[in-house]
Amino acid sequence: MSTERHYEREFVRTFFTSPTAVKGEEDSAKMIRSAAGLRGMQAPDVWVPDNEDATAPNMRDEGARNIVEVVAEHGADFPGEIHPRVVWHRDSPTTRYRGFQHMLAIADPEGGAVEHIDGFVIPEVGDIDDWKKADEFITIVENEHGLEEGSLSMSVIVESGEAELAMGDLREEMGRPSNNLERLFLLVDGEVDYTKDMRAMTPTGELPPWPELRHNTSRGASAAGLIAVDGPYDDIRDVEGYHERMVDNRAKGMLGIWSLTPRQVVEANTSPLPPESGRWLLELGDEEIDLTEEDGRQVYEGDAVGLEETDDGYVLRVGSDEQQLDEGGLREELLDMAAYVPSMDDIVNSMEEFEAAKEAGRGAISMTRATTVVVDGVEVEISQDRMWDEATYQAAQTPIALFQDVYEHRPDQHEELEEMYGADVVERAMSVGN
Ligand SMILES: CC(C)(COP(=O)(O)OP(=O)(O)OC[C@H]1O[C@@H](n2cnc3c(N)ncnc32)[C@H](O)[C@@H]1OP(=O)(O)O)[C@@H](O)C(=O)NCCC(=O)NCCS
Repeated sequence: MSTERHYEREFVRTFFTSPTAVKGEEDSAKMIRSAAGLRGMQAPDVWVPDNEDATAPNMRDEGARNIVEVVAEHGADFPGEIHPRVVWHRDSPTTRYRGFQHMLAIADPEGGAVEHIDGFVIPEVGDIDDWKKADEFITIVENEHGLEEGSLSMSVIVESGEAELAMGDLREEMGRPSNNLERLFLLVDGEVDYTKDMRAMTPTGELPPWPELRHNTSRGASAAGLIAVDGPYDDIRDVEGYHERMVDNRAKGMLGIWSLTPRQVVEANTSPLPPESGRWLLELGDEEIDLTEEDGRQVYEGDAVGLEETDDGYVLRVGSDEQQLDEGGLREELLDMAAYVPSMDDIVNSMEEFEAAKEAGRGAISMTRATTVVVDGVEVEISQDRMWDEATYQAAQTPIALFQDVYEHRPDQHEELEEMYGADVVERAMSVGN
């Protein structure tokens, strides 16, 4: 039996924090009020009115009141889930008590917000005993307000070595009758505080990229049936860097990321969805260079690769390396360098083809991808056969499963998705794999 999930969304692309109270504004709730009005690709999957680091300490009591007011008024129409973050610290009972008081206030049914609140985000957790304290506080909040036990989820920010190690205990701890840890939902990395906790240093003071933490969080989420989310990318105008980070995360199974601005929300909502059209590229060392489609052929337009036909074959130049090759050798070299990024339509096609083969009693089939690559006017046909079996099919399914989860839970994005892919592809993507 696979690990059970206890919540509604199976994928979360975006975790968007907003300051709950800003001093000096006529309306201190201005930022959460405007965030509550976001729709479509601008609205996150999980919205976090942030009563911790995004809000000044002396504004947090007002912040808790603002959350109640804004969520009571706009929560019903908000298209994503709502998970306020409260204060917490593994080393400070006073901070934990304050977070508890804020949860009690926010979840009070009198305020009218709790029916739209899906859970709480707990930062700065320590070892597994500390996670259980937070869980118990939420259980007390539920009991105090006559809410069903376990109805509020708990997400944590993993920003200490202790919390990172605690993820290894979750699978065992979550089933025990003495806690309600089944309420866990997201494991979210917090690289800034983690860097401090680890006493890490870099010459420039920049954050280390922490691929190990991201891997461990993804693994912890997979083992316990939770969802892994990467931490904030604070270079907020660097769209390309944010994209690179998300590509790197996705290769680890970490499909969600924190967003600090509405612009980052749009990028992070869109990025994990399969592209509308497929593209060929050449991989040169660490670099990937897109080929340009011209009449069904894929043309290389850069200077790093050169190709010349000679009397006894071809000369292929990559950077400063030249190779004398015959036709077969040339084809092999280009096949090694070329790669294809499939579109949503391609993925759906391959899955349909495999489903039809399975139906006809075949467990493995070969799928061919072929094209003509043009370098310096010389055309080379390349073709690659890939074996598809049930495991290939299942792995190919992740982007489709993500799309299906988005489509099912975010009707406010239907129009944009249909505009992007066309209604036909959307319909086929929704029925494949079921
Ligand atoms: C970083 C920050 C101060 C930048 O603000 P900015 O320079 O105004 O950002 P932008 O220009 O991209 O904002 C565009 C609009 O979106 C609003 N906005 C930006 N980030 C927002 C957020 N996180 N939540 C709600 N609204 C936000 C801005 O107020 C602005 O609204 P306006 O046009 O009505 O003035 C702001 O994005 C922010 O406070 N983000 C959250 C920080 C946070 O969560 N920190 C805790 C993480 S550890």
